[in-house]
Amino acid sequence: MIGNAPIGKHMRTGLLKSGQRVQLTDYKGRKSTITLHEGGEWHTHRGVLHHDKLISQPEGIVVENSAGYRYQVLRPLLNDYVLSMPRGATVVYPKDSAQIIQVADIFPGAHVMEAGVGSGALSLSLLRATGDFGTLNSYELREEFADIARSNVEAFFGEPHPGWKIHVGDAGQKSLEVEQPGGVDRVVLDMLTPWKCLTAVRTVLAPGGVWVSYVATVTQLSRLTEEIRRSGGFTEPEAHETMLRTWHLDGLAVRPDHRMVAHTGFLLSTRRLADDQLPLELKKREKVSEPAGEDTQAWAGTNDDETWDEETLQTRMVSRKKARKAAANSLKHAEAAKEVVNDE
Ligand SMILES: C[S@@+](CC[C@H](N)C(=O)[O-])C[C@H]1O[C@@H](n2cnc3c(N)ncnc32)[C@H](O)[C@@H]1O
Repeated sequence: MIGNAPIGKHMRTGLLKSGQRVQLTDYKGRKSTITLHEGGEWHTHRGVLHHDKLISQPEGIVVENSAGYRYQVLRPLLNDYVLSMPRGATVVYPKDSAQIIQVADIFPGAHVMEAGVGSGALSLSLLRATGDFGTLNSYELREEFADIARSNVEAFFGEPHPGWKIHVGDAGQKSLEVEQPGGVDRVVLDMLTPWKCLTAVRTVLAPGGVWVSYVATVTQLSRLTEEIRRSGGFTEPEAHETMLRTWHLDGLAVRPDHRMVAHTGFLLSTRRLADDQLPLELKKREKVSEPAGEDTQAWAGTNDDETWDEETLQTRMVSRKKARKAAANSLKHAEAAKEVVNDE
């Protein structure tokens, strides 16, 4: 924290400063995000925009480049920032982060466990919600993803977040070494095999604590649900997905946009019961038969690790080379952000 100001406030308010990211919107509504530097230039095939025209100006100005093209200038909001920052792994979309914060009941001062970190998009929303006095322990298998996320978060807040730690390793094992039993208020998982964290979550989550998992496929959703039920110790899991339909607003042509992001993922939420308590058998639950042998085989296959990988689940795979490039890029933004003068 710099002085008494809340973390990251100096990056979000006041006149535009060198080291800050700004979003430029052109006459077609296309958005580009740049980092301001004294004497810096932004080149496109439509001319040059001098950064000095923006530095020390308020947000919301409209500036012209050397060829007379006009751009509207605003700081990216968190929603814009996560979609424009360097990425390794796929990020949780803002519509889902918003739901996660609400469904997981993330509150200021909470101690939250998260896995995996990926590019740090969800970490940013969690840190915002836990605030200056909360703590977030994020677990990530891949070192290069941890690097990307660290830089993305630092570039957003302009400094390392004092309540945030990344632990590199398997969340299911590492969290048992790091967390106190029953010491975690909320758990949020975005990883391929969240059921492998069941023992860890049962150990570290406080009674009454909320556990939300974000999964991309129905097969993951189904397996996690059944494993939570089988394990006992948790309330009946609930699932939902969020569809966001944007609207076209033009004169009398007011209607839903033709295109939308049709699928991102599902949220599964449950709460930890007190020790040695069994979940209530809910009357409203339809009596379904136990999963048949072929269902279980479809989930687990013969080799669990081979079946539940990025390839079989057709989630996006990121090469080491691409991840390293994103890490270098995000570090550059973080270094620039740390130079921003805080005059609060
Ligand atoms: C889809 S990405 C997470 C994206 C992230 N939530 C975001 O919004 O930027 C999934 C991440 O989980 C990590 N992961 C997978 N299994 C893990 C495990 N057992 N422990 C820790 N991290 C794991 C992967 O390396 C990957 O970075």
